[in-house]
Amino acid sequence: MTARTPRPEELEPIERASRDELRSLQLQRLRWTLGHAYDNVPHYRHAFDAKGVHPRELLDLDDLARFPFTVKTDLRDNYPFGMFAVPREQVVRVHASSGTTGKPTVVGYTRNDIETWASVMARSIRAAGGRAGDVLQVAYGYGLFTGGLGAHYGAEKLGCTVIPMSGGQTERQVQLIMDFKPTVIMVTPSYMLAIAEEMERQGIDPTKSSLEIGIFGAEPWTPTMRETIEARLAMDAIDIYGLSEVIGPGVAQECIETKDGLTVWEDHFYPEVVDPETGAVLPAGEKGELVFTSLTKEALPIIRYRTRDLTRLLPPTARSMRRIEKITGRSDDMMIIRGVNVFPTQIEELMLRDAALAPHYQIEITRPASLDEMTVLVERIPAAGSADGDAAGHRLQRHIKSMIGVSATVTVLGPGGIERSLGKARRIVDKRPK
Ligand code: DLL
Repeated sequence: MTARTPRPEELEPIERASRDELRSLQLQRLRWTLGHAYDNVPHYRHAFDAKGVHPRELLDLDDLARFPFTVKTDLRDNYPFGMFAVPREQVVRVHASSGTTGKPTVVGYTRNDIETWASVMARSIRAAGGRAGDVLQVAYGYGLFTGGLGAHYGAEKLGCTVIPMSGGQTERQVQLIMDFKPTVIMVTPSYMLAIAEEMERQGIDPTKSSLEIGIFGAEPWTPTMRETIEARLAMDAIDIYGLSEVIGPGVAQECIETKDGLTVWEDHFYPEVVDPETGAVLPAGEKGELVFTSLTKEALPIIRYRTRDLTRLLPPTARSMRRIEKITGRSDDMMIIRGVNVFPTQIEELMLRDAALAPHYQIEITRPASLDEMTVLVERIPAAGSADGDAAGHRLQRHIKSMIGVSATVTVLGPGGIERSLGKARRIVDKRPK
């Protein structure tokens, strides 16, 4: 319990409902969603028909496993509005992913969807310890990215005083923190570190700021990164998860009183964990790929969406809904170095344990001959000299070899040597020939 733990009467009834109540609501909503998708989206009609399944065959929640998956390319193939299940005129907003290759992925919302999203975001901020009356700085990017506006509408709905700062302009972020005294900040964990660093540059002690809670997500971050941020800023660092295809931020949220993984708002988003290779649904507790089906979305119902995020489903604790374990990797981010699977977060864990290294890093993959090689670029802290830095680099190289089992080259740069993110950090720089 912390002073910011919401009181039971402040929660929505469904957050405290029994498993049976929740499951019956899910079944009813799932039936509606499957029918809505089948009747109104040609892609789903074809995909269901091709698999020989019909929405009326869903008799219980486990029957969902018979329905086809949806993947990112399905959204791209139906670019821009082909996955919408309502006439375009009823779509009051669109968001889109940046789309590093080719076309962006477009998602749409009806007025009710925007209201649903604001509600799950308000619920998320409250679970993180925020409440009406908090001054809340939104430093997720506004615009096509779902982070800024998603956080904004939720915070307003909860009754916070919102500072719609968006990402970037780091000096300005610090100025507003000092002058407006927000108690809550919503930002990527990597950009929070850049803001802390700017405070220090200005001679401000980050542990003395008004910030009490950070709601961090949009990128993987490790438990050790939580400790680093909590110590450096004297705040609670709480995890928030979401993805644009499912709604945006606010799909799952860690609760401040437990900090034990993220509660999935299961009354709106139905989770499954599947074997990434075979697609078979895995038993509770086994690690695999997270798959989501929306239960209430009108404009863009999404059926069994393959998130590529790797985690496991855990039993409920602080709420009646199930949790997911903190996501420390995406299948897309898995590097295979000489046959060993490596995730950037494994490197992060090891690196953060070394007091001489700053919490900024990048991993370069090259292929000088026929095999892939990995170079880990890290930075020494300002107080460490270059000899201390080099010694830390050797230590990290040894730990990577002994703990992860791969040979990497560690290069230690001076302070500021690694590019700072203004939003999602770019951890992997792939320099292999295309
Ligand atoms: O990143 C939505 C969001 C905004 C979530 C703000 C949280 C806070 P996308 O740009 O569609 O949406 O990216 C979604 O980001 O599939 C994960 O791989 C990753 N991701 C999001 N939250 C977390 C998290 C937003 N807490 C993709 N931990 C997802 C690890 C996360 N990865």
